[in-house]
Amino acid sequence: MRMIDLIEKKRDGKALSAAEISGFVQALCAGEIPDYQTAALLMAITLKGMNRAETVALTRAMAGSGDMPDLSDICAYAIDKHSSGGVGDKTTLVVLPLVAAFDVPVAKMSGRGLGFGGGTLDKLEAIDGFTVNLSEAEFRRVVKETGMVLAGQSASLAPADGILYALRDVTGTVPSLPLIASSIMSKKLAAGADGIVLDVKLGCGAFMKTLEEARALAQAMVRIGVDAGRDMVALLSDMNQPLGVAAGNALEVAEAVATLRGGGPEDLRAHCVEVAAQMLRLAGQGERWTDIANTRVEVDEVLRSGAAFERFRRMVAAQGGDVRQLDEPSRLPQAKIRYRARAQQSGYIAALYADKIGWATLALGGGRATKESSIDHAVGVEAHANVGDAVQKGDLLLTLHANDETRLNAALTALSGAIVYSDAPVEALPPFYGIIDGTRA
Ligand code: URA
Repeated sequence: MRMIDLIEKKRDGKALSAAEISGFVQALCAGEIPDYQTAALLMAITLKGMNRAETVALTRAMAGSGDMPDLSDICAYAIDKHSSGGVGDKTTLVVLPLVAAFDVPVAKMSGRGLGFGGGTLDKLEAIDGFTVNLSEAEFRRVVKETGMVLAGQSASLAPADGILYALRDVTGTVPSLPLIASSIMSKKLAAGADGIVLDVKLGCGAFMKTLEEARALAQAMVRIGVDAGRDMVALLSDMNQPLGVAAGNALEVAEAVATLRGGGPEDLRAHCVEVAAQMLRLAGQGERWTDIANTRVEVDEVLRSGAAFERFRRMVAAQGGDVRQLDEPSRLPQAKIRYRARAQQSGYIAALYADKIGWATLALGGGRATKESSIDHAVGVEAHANVGDAVQKGDLLLTLHANDETRLNAALTALSGAIVYSDAPVEALPPFYGIIDGTRA
């Protein structure tokens, strides 16, 4: 394989063969390709695209570039979920124990957050002592003991994706649909999932801004999974306003705990119930949980029963976390300053921009501007209203949790224009815009 031939072929809009793609990925991991040639190929792919077969071949080659753990001894059917991320998205913290409460073991590897807010691992690290760095033996022990585990993904999981992503980040080639879809799916396939529920967010606080973009990404990922023999379903969900109330690591853990104890914000609870019901549907393999409406009811009951909270508590204890912080969330990290923003007029909330709330959380120190930045777990923003709500002048709309005045001021600047009012009634935003079922993709 000559790299120049692949670059020219893609530059001219031709499809690469599976053998060419796997040869490229192998040579990439062996350090045999100079960055300038890899970057040129990435740009050619970004400009000319990839067809379904090429995208699947790239995903498989990246998935196979490192370890592919066999989970069959700990999970008869390995069910996984992936969210394309957003503001206040603490779904995983609720959904995993919820599925585990149905005696379906879940062994999940997660990434860290970059940008707006923390990722699932960052949120969990708001709990004192909680470790996401588990050896393979510890990973297996925690699932066996508690029915679930949530750990960081090892460097040996799809390493080709790590190399490519670092180059994409600095060459303007992140926003390429086949590259995004294959990047995400390579890590899912490598992590050993048999079935995957994708939660693809769309709106101002999401990677994908429009329904068309989100649908195209979801479809591409579902097709990759189906072609690789996985059970797939994708939900297209709203991220124009934050999910739930809290954005910020410890605040989100507290909100997840409230939800696991049968409370929590209604939109978050409904979202988690849907994702968990879809995971159970796939895990049921056409024998159990086939009727999604009944499954939603069952899931909601289990959530309200506290059984999922008990699972979460056991997993946190098994991973070294201080469960007293779950029993009494006021023991979680607390910020020194609380700043309350109130409605400046009466009317209806027409917009509560998730992106601005995300940038404010980042300004407070709750997210990572670069991979090296550290996170302040205590800070964040609570948004107490939703689009469509009627408010009176003076109602509490936002609470900012800050640890210093300078950051607080930066967050307030980021929030400028975050709330839009209307004199006329406004419709609530739909939680979901559609579903793409792998059997029909
Ligand atoms: N997340 C990933 O893992 N990869 C991408 O390319 C984009 C988002």
